[in-house]
Amino acid sequence: MMLEVKNLVKEFGGLVANADISFELQQGEVLGLIGPNGAGKSTLFNCIAGYYKPTGGQILFEGKEITGWPSHLVAREGIARTFQGMKIMANLTVGENVMIGAFCRTGDRRIALKEAGEILDLMGLDGETEAYPAELPIASQKRIELARAIATKPKLLMLDEMAAGLNPLETKEIIQILQRIKEQRQLTLFLTEHVMEFVMTVSQRVIVMSAGQKITEGPPAEVARQEKVIEAYLGERYAKGR
Ligand SMILES: Nc1ncnc2c1ncn2[C@@H]1O[C@H](COP(=O)(O)OP(=O)(O)OP(=O)(O)O)[C@@H](O)[C@H]1O
Ligand SMILES: [Mg+2]
Repeated sequence: MMLEVKNLVKEFGGLVANADISFELQQGEVLGLIGPNGAGKSTLFNCIAGYYKPTGGQILFEGKEITGWPSHLVAREGIARTFQGMKIMANLTVGENVMIGAFCRTGDRRIALKEAGEILDLMGLDGETEAYPAELPIASQKRIELARAIATKPKLLMLDEMAAGLNPLETKEIIQILQRIKEQRQLTLFLTEHVMEFVMTVSQRVIVMSAGQKITEGPPAEVARQEKVIEAYLGERYAKGR
């Protein structure tokens, strides 16, 4: 098993943001995570990627316990993530932003430069290497964020609301890029998304969270039919539209 999360708990003072969450993720799988605002999705990502220390429970990556490890060590094990509020650096060029990802593994500037170039090619951003992120549209900035994560050469890539702020065409394009990279680099994906067309078409399996709890998991079509899921989340956004 690539990732095992066992009875994970994360509390903020009296608030239980993750309450006893358990699930597994197999190598090569695409796992989706859905749930209303405040359900605890980003918190779960932050616990796995080492940005938050869990209050309880265990996280195992390729059989090794990584619970409570800091983010740079988790990254070195092969877990990368993108952030809901993007973390690209405004004062660095597009190319330099992506090189930061590569510097997680190598201290050699030439290697980092070469790898960043290859990834920007894949993203259709090869013409923008010298540009500054703020000069580019939001869809390109999302690709830079994705490129930076890919540059760490992850085994597991976690995407927190990749499609937020994108129009349907831009969303479709980023899904295509993602699928291409997944195949080429044999990635395992764990993604959270409010854009149902994204998460439900890309994921082989989805987990549904609500108010800190995992309420169900299963294949997208099966999960979308469940009464408790419709009540907690899907109702307005999805079920009625079918
Ligand atoms: N650093 C923090 N300190 C205190 N409370 C936090 C912190 N991070 C998250 N929370 C709280 O934990 C709960 C879950 O938040 P989280 O961001 O994980 O939700 P989410 O499912 O990602 O929501 P959204 O869909 O809006 O991104 C919320 O009540 C939030 O206010
Ligand atoms: Mg979130």
